[in-house]
Amino acid sequence: NMPAEFVGNVVSDEKTPSYSTVLCHLLPGKTTRPGELLMVEIEEGLHYSLGRVREGREVNPYETADLSHMRGLLGLESPSKREDLPRKFKVVSLDLLEELIMEEGNNWRLREPQTIIPAGSKIFKATEETAALAVGLKKNGNGGVDIGNVVGSQDLRVVLDANKVFPRHVLIVGTTGTGKSWLRGVLAEEINALGIPQVNIDLHGEATEAAKELGGQNLIPGTTLTVKLSSLTEPEVLGLIPYLHELHEQIVTRAFLELKKKAGPEGFGLDELLREVDKVGQQFGAKPPTMSIVRARLEALRYVRVIGKGVNWANLLKPSAFINIDCRGVSHGELQAIAGAVGRELLGLRMRKMVPPLILSIDEAHMFIPYGEESPSSQVLREVIRWGRHYGICLILITPSPTDIDRKIIRITNTRFIFAIEPDQLDALRGVFADAPEEIIYRLPKLEQGTCLLTGSKETVRHALLVKIKARKTTHGGATPDIINEVKNFKANPEKVETKPDQASYKEEEGLGKWSH
Ligand SMILES: Nc1ncnc2c1ncn2[C@@H]1O[C@H](COP(=O)(O)OP(=O)(O)OP(=O)(O)O)[C@@H](O)[C@H]1O
Ligand SMILES: [Mg+2]
Repeated sequence: NMPAEFVGNVVSDEKTPSYSTVLCHLLPGKTTRPGELLMVEIEEGLHYSLGRVREGREVNPYETADLSHMRGLLGLESPSKREDLPRKFKVVSLDLLEELIMEEGNNWRLREPQTIIPAGSKIFKATEETAALAVGLKKNGNGGVDIGNVVGSQDLRVVLDANKVFPRHVLIVGTTGTGKSWLRGVLAEEINALGIPQVNIDLHGEATEAAKELGGQNLIPGTTLTVKLSSLTEPEVLGLIPYLHELHEQIVTRAFLELKKKAGPEGFGLDELLREVDKVGQQFGAKPPTMSIVRARLEALRYVRVIGKGVNWANLLKPSAFINIDCRGVSHGELQAIAGAVGRELLGLRMRKMVPPLILSIDEAHMFIPYGEESPSSQVLREVIRWGRHYGICLILITPSPTDIDRKIIRITNTRFIFAIEPDQLDALRGVFADAPEEIIYRLPKLEQGTCLLTGSKETVRHALLVKIKARKTTHGGATPDIINEVKNFKANPEKVETKPDQASYKEEEGLGKWSH
């Protein structure tokens, strides 16, 4: 093992050392950063306490206001830049996270901090081994999800334990442009390497290249991806049918619910629904004109391109599969239908063990599980959230706007990546900061791009960490367009009207059915 870097000593002030905090006097020339992990030596080789840098300051009696003022008047130079001033130094405060005790057989045992560490004890930069143990991280390889490094420590890799993280749900939040989708891409690469199949609802086409590079597939709603009529709920179906009177609605609802009861795993389509509607109509004693109106209205469903035969998930979800649903240009209503129906189909298949455990990720999740209102997709996504972990579906929810998501859902996630976020969004995240101190939460709005606060629970990430997310192997799509250049080089082309980079504009062509939500 490499010797750890010696950075300072525990010093005493009025309040510390205490059970939970120590003050570290930094040796000249040594630096730390908020969130960095250090280890305090209680007994060499045998007993350490791992601490996280909370705050720091310089003590400098040579640069008090009066001395500074006087020097100014006398035109004297300040000595403060010198490193050899005996009474000038830096101190940083550490939150003690975990004690590590060497036991017989050369094993580290963890316990809650419970030692008042003597002033004078040496402090080192944490080693990979102690940091990983204390936080609950893994060594790379063998079920590890390597996402980057602890800020300030290039060699402290943050490797999550897939078996702890993915049976639960993951939250990624941050203001626009902070690195959420980038991280989703890093996770995609790691999940792919672990062999776990994943489905990604890609609103902005950010992952289309990555999907190809990882040997996956891009599905286009309405073309290569359709959902079964039977995967919708009756409010969703009614929402797709224009101008239904009460009686019509009752007939359709009854027929739809009857079919749902009867249908096997393969579900049903519009033709079955039309037949069932005839039967129900007879029971209701509906007159022929009524029935022809109902049938005519139902025909509208044929023009909803996302409704169709469905896809064969069992075929698609092979080990390592990356199924990216490219939702560029898809309307809000259809997006809801897709997210809802895909969630329902996958949950159903998992309940019957027809597909392996999988990961489903949803960008702009606030659109699908809005706070305080029901949307077509929210009910099923709530179910997936509630039951998913028992059936082996992990949700990755991504949003710039956690205030717009149900608080319960935010809390149910067990691994959270919090990028720079607007101060007004912080409240929604109270309760998921784990043991991150106020000083770090306060600085969250200023986190650098690609850096996040990682928090979890005892099972996933035991202590909050600031993490620099690593470089991508795959291509990150969806870069912000350079408007000025695009305007400058713009030439109108009256012949060819392109609406989407690689999809036909089916809406205009085929008169898509509308969602009335
Ligand atoms: N870890 C990182 N390393 C290097 N560059 C990064 C990293 N994270 C983000 N970036 C850069 O920042 C840009 C924006 O990141 P990203 O697309 O992930 O933002 P986002 O949080 O998903 O934003 P939006 O909410 O607008 O979708 C990327 O295109 C990339 O250039
Ligand atoms: Mg994004």
